[in-house]
Amino acid sequence: MVKYVANMHGDESVGRQLLIYLAQFLLKNYKNPRIGKLVNTTDIFLMPSMNPDGFEASLEGHCESKHDYSGRHNANNMDLNRDFPDQFNDDMTQFLRGGSIIEGRQKETVAMMTWISSQPFVLSGNFHGGAVVASYPFDSGTSKKYGVESISPDDELFKYLAHIYADNNPDMHSGGACPSDIFPGGVTNGAKWYEVIGGMQDFNYFRSNALEITFELSCCKYPNATTLPEHWRKNKESLIKYLEQVHIGIKGVVLTTDGRPIEGAQIRIYGINRNVSTTDRGEYWRLLTPGRYIVFASAWGYKPSEMVEVTVKENEQSIINFTLKILSSKEQGNTEVEYPRMVPIMSRLMPLDQLVASLNVRDYDY
Ligand SMILES: *[C@@H]1O[C@H](CO)[C@@H](O)[C@H](O)[C@H]1NC(C)=O
Ligand SMILES: *[C@@H]1O[C@H](CO)[C@@H](O)[C@H](O)[C@H]1NC(C)=O
Ligand SMILES: *[C@@H]1O[C@H](CO)[C@@H](O)[C@H](O)[C@H]1NC(C)=O
Repeated sequence: MVKYVANMHGDESVGRQLLIYLAQFLLKNYKNPRIGKLVNTTDIFLMPSMNPDGFEASLEGHCESKHDYSGRHNANNMDLNRDFPDQFNDDMTQFLRGGSIIEGRQKETVAMMTWISSQPFVLSGNFHGGAVVASYPFDSGTSKKYGVESISPDDELFKYLAHIYADNNPDMHSGGACPSDIFPGGVTNGAKWYEVIGGMQDFNYFRSNALEITFELSCCKYPNATTLPEHWRKNKESLIKYLEQVHIGIKGVVLTTDGRPIEGAQIRIYGINRNVSTTDRGEYWRLLTPGRYIVFASAWGYKPSEMVEVTVKENEQSIINFTLKILSSKEQGNTEVEYPRMVPIMSRLMPLDQLVASLNVRDYDY
């Protein structure tokens, strides 16, 4: 499952139209083998506008937000991309909001939070405007300093995905499409550019399986409608190719020994401190860049799987299924059943034998 969400800032309107063009394009070109394969194998969700009230309050041909931010904000004058829970900075706001994670948030935000965290999305794009760049997690960080990266456990993967989009858009790839843009290769870490606290992109990462990247599509936030076909031409290949990335890495199912799906099993990759969990059908998808990985599955009440070594190749997806044995009541009470531990991110660069040897070193736990 992939989703594209546009226009959460109502006056950043190019993405809104691109998603409508994309829907038409996918339908019209279903007979084309590449598009037919993509549509046949991918659940594609397109949300042209997350902020229709803001869009209504915006004006065609206005390149910057209005001084009072009506248009950018929703009808309650709130910036929806500052309204999500934040993994690093939300303790106080959470407390002030009364303790519930949805308390005091905008209706649009709560609807998105519910959609994101209840559905097994794998990949996501969030379309903005006012610059031309692919900006990847994290947007928020702990440094509180300008220009400092906030690096996620999937940094390498995010850079790869951001480049898929940027490299296929000539303006974005140049990194200098707008007067104030200086983005080498057309990509940037979100926090390095400027910190966003309470953004939707990071929420996807820490509250769901989905990987989301923010795509800034145009220097002018709400350009004249006559320019839209040109924006489509520049973004078409990127939009399609990014959707296709949901089929990289590994996928499979986690089952009990008698063949029933296990929901909520954790798929873990050594050296990457971020799990994905299985759906109610026991399915998982774990996007990975080409390379060698060690993967295993664990679930509450089951014995963790053996570790499996996998070599991920470019443009190829490997299927790795797991079968987990239920722990007997005796084993469940027995602390001897040890879960394998995570090792630091750099370990992925170690030779495999060394990596395996290091797995017993408990101090390396995150
Ligand atoms: C997509 O699925 C349809 C229906 O099963 C099939 O006729 C068509 O050949 C498929 N297209 C591709 C490109 O695989
Ligand atoms: C939009 O079109 C109008 C009328 O042709 C023109 O005056 C204006 O400069 C254009 N705006 C932009 C941002 O290109
Ligand atoms: C990954 O899953 C394991 C096993 O359930 C858990 O102990 C660990 O904390 C998880 N890691 C993260 C980053 O959530």
